[in-house]
Amino acid sequence: MSKAPSLQLDSATLADEYDRLGIRQFNHGLQLLDALGLQEGERVLDIGCGTGRLTESAAQRVGAQGEVLGIDPLPLRVERALQRAQERFAARVGRAEALADIGGSHYDVVYLNSVIHWIPDQPKALREAWRVLKPGGRLGFTTMPADAPHDLHGVLHKLIAADPQSRRAEIGAPNKLTRESAASLLSSLGFEVTLNEIREFDDAFDNVDDVLTFSRASSFGNFLSSLAEPQITQLRERLAAALEAHRGPRGLHLARRMIFVTARKPLAH
Ligand SMILES: C[S@@+](CC[C@H](N)C(=O)[O-])C[C@H]1O[C@@H](n2cnc3c(N)ncnc32)[C@H](O)[C@@H]1O
Repeated sequence: MSKAPSLQLDSATLADEYDRLGIRQFNHGLQLLDALGLQEGERVLDIGCGTGRLTESAAQRVGAQGEVLGIDPLPLRVERALQRAQERFAARVGRAEALADIGGSHYDVVYLNSVIHWIPDQPKALREAWRVLKPGGRLGFTTMPADAPHDLHGVLHKLIAADPQSRRAEIGAPNKLTRESAASLLSSLGFEVTLNEIREFDDAFDNVDDVLTFSRASSFGNFLSSLAEPQITQLRERLAAALEAHRGPRGLHLARRMIFVTARKPLAH
């Protein structure tokens, strides 16, 4: 069943931390932009743009003749995106499921980088993406596979499963897809899937606190948000011990897998 994350837990600190630590999402986002083959002069919509680091790269790729808009429901992240934009792209508060102020068939490319697993009504969001795409337009997203979790989530699942007090803690995004469910969702809406594969990344962290800060910032405060401070302290100790098994040359190495999907709105629409 789909679940809505809270959009009320973000803070200036979390937004700044995401801007610093979201380099991981940025790096796989660059691969998504490569897969989408952005061309000079194209119009691009970045849904869930966060603090706008990837939006800026999209704007560089389409150049001054192109047009890039980033939308995100979190005002503090949009504020940072606007600081970064310097009028090279636009950014505003908005949600994937409600693009009513954008006219139909406007964009060449719509993408969501590490966003779709947070969206409760994914069919509605993708129908909106379809509506604002031109015929022949490209859609792309990256998302965490439901059936191949981040190493961190695997470790945490084991730790909290053994502890009745924290069993219900939020440790990942609530609405993950598999390659199969992503493909069938897109096909049911009329998209032609052009890429659907899992890529693996090596996330290295200095220590357990870096891991926790990254997870809180990336989830805009949802990660472990239902736990009280003493429970978090206890879990942190157990996590620190469990993560020692992942120590490598650059600190704690945790593999992150992402589904890369691109699709096309057929020309006949
Ligand atoms: C992990 S961040 C990714 C940010 C950015 N795309 C990047 O690559 O760095 C997830 C983003 O999804 C946004 N988000 C959550 N729910 C959303 C929704 N319903 N519509 C659009 N964006 C949403 C969050 O506000 C957050 O900025």
